[in-house]
Amino acid sequence: MAKRKRTRVATLERVPVSDPPVRPGLIGPRRRVPRQIGRPPYARTGEPGPPVSSMVRSPSEVEAMRRAGQVAAEVLLLAGRLVVPGVTTDRIDAEVHEEIVRRGAYPSPLNYRGYPKSVCTSVNEVICHGIPDSRALADGDIVNIDVTVYLDGVHGDTSVTFEVGEVDEHSRLLVRETREAMYLGIGAVRNGVPVHAIGRAIETHARAHHLGVVREFIGHGVGTEFHSGLQIPHYFDRRHTTLLETGMSFTIEPMLTLGTAELYLWDDQWTAVTADQRRSAQFEHTLLCADDGAEILTRTPRGEGAAEVYARN
Ligand code: MF3
Ligand code: CO
Ligand code: CO
Repeated sequence: MAKRKRTRVATLERVPVSDPPVRPGLIGPRRRVPRQIGRPPYARTGEPGPPVSSMVRSPSEVEAMRRAGQVAAEVLLLAGRLVVPGVTTDRIDAEVHEEIVRRGAYPSPLNYRGYPKSVCTSVNEVICHGIPDSRALADGDIVNIDVTVYLDGVHGDTSVTFEVGEVDEHSRLLVRETREAMYLGIGAVRNGVPVHAIGRAIETHARAHHLGVVREFIGHGVGTEFHSGLQIPHYFDRRHTTLLETGMSFTIEPMLTLGTAELYLWDDQWTAVTADQRRSAQFEHTLLCADDGAEILTRTPRGEGAAEVYARN
């Protein structure tokens, strides 16, 4: 036991903290959505509205979710092309917004509980919900781009952590094993399996690579609501005994860290950063539970997803 602890500390000492730390930049004005585009209930008020009871999608909702998932995947693929040193996260927001509305969809983050932008961009030690701003990406950064679209009454939610230029070896390992952890979680999904099987698969993998697992943010039911009552922790918790059922739709979106998984929020009340300023990575897909496994909804019709297309290692 004591020996293991020393190993962990010795390993951690070699993991650099983010330098310089990410600081808030300037946030531009709210972007407009053409009036003919269908909006989720919170678009005007910021309030998500009353929860829906059913966790299982109807056949027509499944069809709509395949379309929404494809659009989210296409937009994330395009967003990845922008990831080069010098590009601001606000520029990524502009492009993502444009590509989403061009496809007749609404950018789900916009005004969700008052969120001010159309996408989340989380750089280095930012765990999630980073707000696009005037900060330019730098060579060696990592950035998660989290795209959610609302189309035909349902949401599709997907994210990838991209490497900007050449990144250090700790970051490469972090990105690679976070992607792998997401796919191991997805691999645990099928009809009749308890929800905690997903977190067990993810946490086991994270531990094997000495990575932290964020607990404050979890996967979620997604469909007609952006975030529904179904909770998908990325760590093992035996109390999550809900059985997955064919037709349920939800996300798996582990956030893994090089150091502590403890976090705090910036004053903007959105941006979550690691307490020790070491880096964090995240990958996310929207899934549909089937009898014998998971259907990944956030892929193009050709089966492409940004997680593979942009994988460097
Ligand atoms: N897309 C995020 C998720 O995976 C949620 C972002 S909510 C926002 O659940 F308001 F920050 F956009
Ligand atoms: Co999500
Ligand atoms: Co997301």
